[in-house]
Amino acid sequence: MDRKNARRNILKSGLAAASVMAVNHLSVADQHGQHENNSNEDILLEKAFAEDRYVLPPLPYDYDALEPHYQGQALEIHHKRHHQAYVTGLNAVLEKMDNARRDGNYDPSHVRAYSSDLAFNGSGHELHSIFWHSMTAGGVEMPDSFARQVRRDFGSVERFKAHFSQANKAIVGGWGVLAYEPIGQRLIILQVMEHQDNTFTGAVPLLVCDMWEHAFYLQYKNDRSQWVDNFMEIANWQYAAKRYDAIRR
Ligand SMILES: [Fe+2]
Repeated sequence: MDRKNARRNILKSGLAAASVMAVNHLSVADQHGQHENNSNEDILLEKAFAEDRYVLPPLPYDYDALEPHYQGQALEIHHKRHHQAYVTGLNAVLEKMDNARRDGNYDPSHVRAYSSDLAFNGSGHELHSIFWHSMTAGGVEMPDSFARQVRRDFGSVERFKAHFSQANKAIVGGWGVLAYEPIGQRLIILQVMEHQDNTFTGAVPLLVCDMWEHAFYLQYKNDRSQWVDNFMEIANWQYAAKRYDAIRR
């Protein structure tokens, strides 16, 4: 089994025994009664890996598509330079690990450094890959079925949005993450510092907000609050709902 199929199977059965319906293009669209604009490849992040290497996935829209909420130049630099740097770092550290195993070099300091690089760049690559889909021009209403789960786990959609916004605004260098936690089969909000701290192992990110300064400084300077408010206006809840459908039991 190649890695792409293995990843698909983990999402389908290992994490949450997702039904065939859940990853079926048409069924997901039918379930929400809305136009499908994210392919299964987008939902499962398959464009972030190709030919046995991690790669920079294309954006699902033009660089200027999110203006004025997100300026085209800032988005292009974020994607082409910052995200690419995590992809490059991730492939590089995996190669270093391969070399170290080949040489039998398990010096503890090297192992620690490589492990840290792997977590940093790997999480950075995954979170950015989700981040691009976490926004859509003009924003989109939360699908009804997903809103019911949000109300169950957070009390109301309004309380969830207030909590998610405030969690984002309080992050300095990291990510606000809406995630599915498969043990309790519930949605949770995480403040993931750097790329890898404060996480809940096993929880699957559904929608994320990049709170690293490189994500917003060109346009918003140090006004992280305005960045979050504008992000919330273009948040792609439909994408979050589709990832939720794809991974839950
Ligand atoms: Fe970023």
